[in-house]
Amino acid sequence: MTKNKLVLVSLMVAVAFVASATVSMAKPIKIKFSHVVAENTPKGQMANKFKELIDQRLSGKVVVEVFPNSQLFGDNKVLEAMLLGDVQLAAPSLSKFKKYTKSLQIYDLPFLFSNMAAVEKFQQGPEGQKLLMSIKSKGLIGLGYLHNGLKQLSASSPLRVPADAKNKKFRIMSSDVLAAQFEAVGAMPLKKPFSEVFTLLQTKAIDGQENTWSNIYSKKFFEVQPFITESNHGVLDYLVITSTEFWMGLPDDLRSEIKKALDEAIAFGNTVAAQKAIDDRQKIIDSKRSKVLELTDAERQQWVNAMKPVWKQFEDQIGKNYIDAAIKSN
Ligand code: LMR
Repeated sequence: MTKNKLVLVSLMVAVAFVASATVSMAKPIKIKFSHVVAENTPKGQMANKFKELIDQRLSGKVVVEVFPNSQLFGDNKVLEAMLLGDVQLAAPSLSKFKKYTKSLQIYDLPFLFSNMAAVEKFQQGPEGQKLLMSIKSKGLIGLGYLHNGLKQLSASSPLRVPADAKNKKFRIMSSDVLAAQFEAVGAMPLKKPFSEVFTLLQTKAIDGQENTWSNIYSKKFFEVQPFITESNHGVLDYLVITSTEFWMGLPDDLRSEIKKALDEAIAFGNTVAAQKAIDDRQKIIDSKRSKVLELTDAERQQWVNAMKPVWKQFEDQIGKNYIDAAIKSN
């Protein structure tokens, strides 16, 4: 090799080295996923599954960090944080979007869906899909629904008929429909973040709350609530969301890989949700810390009669077309 050639080859090697170092130094995209529940819940497991899939498939390009148990942001802050770019993924309950859209309030209407199959049918239908985009004008995108399940009523005294709830204080999520639902039975609703519920119950600052079996179990509400009425009166599901700015800023190929992993994680989370609704209910019964009350048809009908007028109250805000489609999904 002549001297000139040697210089040229060394130069090329040096350029290649610098180029490859630059590529490997390119910073991976960071996705912070913040949620409020325990890891051993449908949402907790879905978030961890998403991280696992991204680690497997997009290692070095995308890094997912999951923050459970309100560690990073609680209910009230997460959406604002997302708009500020401090968090990229979250899955708040559908009851927590009041500031962003009125239409999603549909999911809080008491006794609207007869079971989770009806919820799934509605969500996958045209109206349900349209609702995913109901927060778009606020800079947020709904990437999919995630199930938790049907809600039960827990309390410090047995609740068999609506009159039993009269003058009792119930913690609710930040939803006006849920407030109206408890007011309809003469109870006093209090909007409080999820992270405060256990202490409020333990110190008897409130008498009861409504939640799914997996939340009641994983956050130990059953240890401080001697009675749980199996009312299945409403649904607690989630909207998996991101900010438009973050989502549209992703390179196309990564965006579609991330969405695919998310869809798979959601499908996994939904299976966990269905199983936990059975298993965590049984674990609570087996613990003997709380008595699970099953309602007779006549007792249940009293709750329906008392709470259903709430539908009319919110029909204009929500949109009758959505309510009709939901009824049809049953
Ligand atoms: C609640 O606040 O009760 C739930 O929304 C918590 C959750 O995210 O499941």
